[in-house]
Amino acid sequence: MSLIFPKWLNSLPPLIAVGVVGGLTATVGAFWYYATPKFWRVGYTPTQPGGGFNHQLHAGKLGMDCRYCHSNIEVSAEANIPSVHVCFGCHAENRLSQFQLAAHKEKTDFIREAYEQDAPIEWRRVHVLPDYVRNFPHASHIAAGVSCYSCHGQIMGMPVVYQAEPLSMSWCLDCHRDVQDNPQNHLVPRDMVTKLIAVEARLSNPSDHVADAARLLENIKLTPPENCGACHY
Ligand code: HEC
Ligand code: HEC
Ligand code: HEC
Ligand code: HEC
Ligand code: HEC
Repeated sequence: MSLIFPKWLNSLPPLIAVGVVGGLTATVGAFWYYATPKFWRVGYTPTQPGGGFNHQLHAGKLGMDCRYCHSNIEVSAEANIPSVHVCFGCHAENRLSQFQLAAHKEKTDFIREAYEQDAPIEWRRVHVLPDYVRNFPHASHIAAGVSCYSCHGQIMGMPVVYQAEPLSMSWCLDCHRDVQDNPQNHLVPRDMVTKLIAVEARLSNPSDHVADAARLLENIKLTPPENCGACHY
């Protein structure tokens, strides 16, 4: 036997086994890496009631401030979605005359229906962290001068909101690590956080704002955390 099949062949089965296992690991690994939420969640756009709330129109064209509707954002960890009463304030039947068109009435009927039935509009949540992440603290990020733009993208240009950023752990940590060294890449003056068009212009040319770095850092209270307990239970 050993004359026909040289000795080294004995090591072939283990070699094949290693190859198969290695190949499988690489495949599973690649699948894990590319198919985990980090990749497929970007662009996530659930179907919304009434075709979606149009931020491009209300926040962009009409110039409504984010805080008119997301009114808790500066005081609470949670951002709130406005109740139907907020919409009804402008979209009540008797106010429609100012908008005239029958087409507009039709598009906004779902608001008055919900209001009359005293039922909430069933908006579907777009951005959501897994349960094992602690309550994400909106208020402290806003106070530090982190704009909605950094985490939600150009909402003022969105007819329907979609997820623009991965919201993965490495994404959170990348900013936390860099913010001390390059605050101008991530922070804007506080009074600017909800002015997303101006923020986009500013953050796309951060090198113009290096001189402001020290002043921007003054708005930070804590060193942005990297310890596990800050974000996990
Ligand atoms: C007139 C009220 C109103 C204004 C003004 C407004 N929003 Fe919204 N926003 C809503 C409603 C209603 C929803 C829920 C529907 C949806 O997700 O599309 C929402 C959803 C969102 C979401 C997605 C929430 C989720 O489910 O993850 C983000 C992010 C957001 N708004 C950011 C902003 C920003 C930033 C601004 C200011 C530039 C702003 N909004 C201004 C009413 C408003
Ligand atoms: C401050 C007043 C105001 C508030 C509050 C408001 N809207 Fe509007 N909305 C408008 C105006 C004005 C228009 C018409 C603008 C136009 O056609 O240029 C409009 C248009 C719309 C349209 C028609 C969209 C289209 O594509 O033509 C929908 C749907 C709508 N609003 C839903 C909502 C919902 C849902 C809320 C509550 C979360 C809300 N609006 C809150 C003023 C308001
Ligand atoms: C540092 C990143 C960051 C910034 C800055 C930020 N958000 Fe968020 N936002 C998130 C994350 C992460 C979630 C999901 C939170 C969760 O699942 O607990 C979220 C969720 C939301 C929601 C959904 C809340 C719900 O209950 O459905 C709204 C609305 C929202 N943000 C609006 C805003 C607005 C408006 C601003 C600016 C004033 C803003 N966010 C700034 C990261 C951010
Ligand atoms: C664009 C930059 C940026 C991104 C992205 C970001 N953070 Fe932060 N984060 C900061 C800054 C700046 C601070 C310091 C705030 C302060 O204390 O003044 C901070 C502070 C925090 C704190 C401590 C403050 C507190 O009130 O507990 C937590 C927790 C936190 N971030 C969680 C997250 C999580 C979770 C994500 C990802 C979903 C995230 N951050 C994404 C910039 C960012
Ligand atoms: C700044 C906030 C933050 C800090 C600090 C942090 N994490 Fe995370 N972590 C997250 C977020 C957000 C997710 C959810 C990611 C997603 O949905 O894809 C996550 C997910 C995870 C996961 C699930 C696997 C994955 O990558 O999706 C593990 C395990 C984990 N973190 C462990 C840790 C450990 C261990 C530490 C300390 C060394 C730590 N985390 C520190 C925010 C943080």
